[in-house]
Amino acid sequence: MNRHCDRRACAIQARVLEPHYSEPPVTSSIDCYMHTLGMNPVMDTWTVDRAMRVAEAELSAALPRRWAHSIGVARRADDLEQMLGEDTTLLVAAATLHDVGYAPRLATTGFHPLDGARFLRDEHGADERLVRLVANHSFALLEAEERGLREVLEAEFPLLEEPLLVDALVYCDMTTTPDGESTTARERVAEIVGRYGADSVVGRFIRRAAPEIFAAVERVDAALVAQPR
Ligand SMILES: [Fe+2]
Repeated sequence: MNRHCDRRACAIQARVLEPHYSEPPVTSSIDCYMHTLGMNPVMDTWTVDRAMRVAEAELSAALPRRWAHSIGVARRADDLEQMLGEDTTLLVAAATLHDVGYAPRLATTGFHPLDGARFLRDEHGADERLVRLVANHSFALLEAEERGLREVLEAEFPLLEEPLLVDALVYCDMTTTPDGESTTARERVAEIVGRYGADSVVGRFIRRAAPEIFAAVERVDAALVAQPR
């Protein structure tokens, strides 16, 4: 596979096959496995490849499991192209970057959606839709409430008024395991409760958010079923 490739799926696939790959792209020669299959013929990798490089730089060495999860979430996002059309690139970028705020050097408040969104806004000038998706991913407002940060989050990064995109990011995050494999939303929520403890901040948040998470996943599932085949 050629690692330097200017299509979205290849920017993801390069990391799946070579998790520690971090050399910046220098050519756009198109010769990778997914191209051979004719997948995702959208010439839009600048955004996704940039998201991959930024997330990889922050997560791959410091938090390799978070990085594996992030790649898995990005792959889920890439699969939603039929539903999202040209917004798929934005969703894949947000999926890639949604947990970047866990990176130790970025953990200022300790609330990763806010830390990640501030980092993308302030260090990278990322566009507003991307930043607001990251800041509010997977019902972050409810966790912000548990942490006394809801007003701060709402003021700096209002929830994007694009429910399908917001639901889609919930769907991708909440159907991907910490190792980047596919799972169900119910298994995912149970795993998070088990990992953090039911009475921890995250445990309380995820138990409150669970009905919303399941409803969002069901909405995306319904939208996928409704897609013409
Ligand atoms: Fe996540």
